[in-house]
Amino acid sequence: MNRVKTGILGATGSVGQAFVWVLREHPLFSVEYIGASDSREGKMYSEEVHWLMPCSMPGYIKDLKLSSLSIEAIKNSGCKILFSALPSDLAAKLEPELRKEGFYIFSNAGAMRREENVPILIPETNAESLQSIENQGFPGKGFVVTNANCSTTGLALALAPLRSFGIEEITVSTYQSISGAGYPGMSAMDIQGNLIPHISGEEEKMVYETCKILGIDPVILVSCVRVPVKFGHLETVWLKFTDTPSLADVKEAWKNFKADFVSHSTPKKPVIYIEDETQPQPAISFEGNPGGMTVYTGRLRKENGKIGFVLLVNNIIRGAAGGSVQNAELFIEKYGGSL
Ligand SMILES: NC(=O)c1ccc[n+]([C@@H]2O[C@H](COP(=O)([O-])OP(=O)(O)OC[C@H]3O[C@@H](n4cnc5c(N)ncnc54)[C@H](OP(=O)(O)O)[C@@H]3O)[C@@H](O)[C@H]2O)c1
Repeated sequence: MNRVKTGILGATGSVGQAFVWVLREHPLFSVEYIGASDSREGKMYSEEVHWLMPCSMPGYIKDLKLSSLSIEAIKNSGCKILFSALPSDLAAKLEPELRKEGFYIFSNAGAMRREENVPILIPETNAESLQSIENQGFPGKGFVVTNANCSTTGLALALAPLRSFGIEEITVSTYQSISGAGYPGMSAMDIQGNLIPHISGEEEKMVYETCKILGIDPVILVSCVRVPVKFGHLETVWLKFTDTPSLADVKEAWKNFKADFVSHSTPKKPVIYIEDETQPQPAISFEGNPGGMTVYTGRLRKENGKIGFVLLVNNIIRGAAGGSVQNAELFIEKYGGSL
């Protein structure tokens, strides 16, 4: 099968690099366009980018030249599908313009997540929400599909199989890695040997997005903290249920949880419980197959009628680029004939 031509908007940043890695040897998608700041136009990717991923830069991208983000340049690339790793303020301006021009945008930015007909899609939890692209005018027109904020993605995946027990209250604290703040991100002077107990807008996003994705409306109490770790967000979670499950029920629900479609980026087991009490640790966030797409849970316990556990999500793969690519795979599965 001929691969579908795609482009990456913001290809030089943390998430842009994760896209470059996730799309290496992809069976459905090829990368034909990579966009970043005007000053990089015409320069080779390998010469311009400070590579941050914990694996080598894929050969296919090294000689590809960076373009500006002008609509003209994007149109000339011949790509219909665009993966967006743009800062939110730029995405708020450019993504609606590109949608108007008929592009299919799979975005990591928070800018359009609150628009009614723009889904926040995680294929294992709310695949049906992809249909709302039809309310944006597809197939005649373009659309935007977003994936959730990185911390929300991990939480939503761990909670999705527990929805049937009636989730009444969620208390969650996050320990978020510095790659989540982009590159160059925060100064080492601020974060080394330190913790920052505030991440702008993050707590509000987790409340809104968890409800929109899971279709539930519990009380949600969130605290987000930036920690001096490179990759992987850890979260501690306490849940109050209407019908409190046993610990065995929770483990069984995670074990049986799976997507009802098969794709290159979809793990066979989206949530894996680790019995070792010292896990999950951020150091394992790239493990699993496909790499970085598994959410790990651990330290399950019951106290005062509440269920507590720890989870780990790879913020730049499952919580960003890998999630977007998986969303595009679901789109091809459901609407591929329209391309
Ligand atoms: N990092 C994460 O874990 C994570 C997780 C989920 C979602 N997100 C979201 O994903 C998006 C990207 O995040 P990131 O962490 O990858 O950010 P980043 O490292 O700061 O990268 C931003 C990218 O956008 C480009 N860009 C910025 N301003 C531009 C301009 N005026 N014109 C053209 N290109 C411009 C940059 O190009 P230059 O290099 O040329 O400046 C770079 O490629 C954000 O909306 C973020 O909230 C991030």
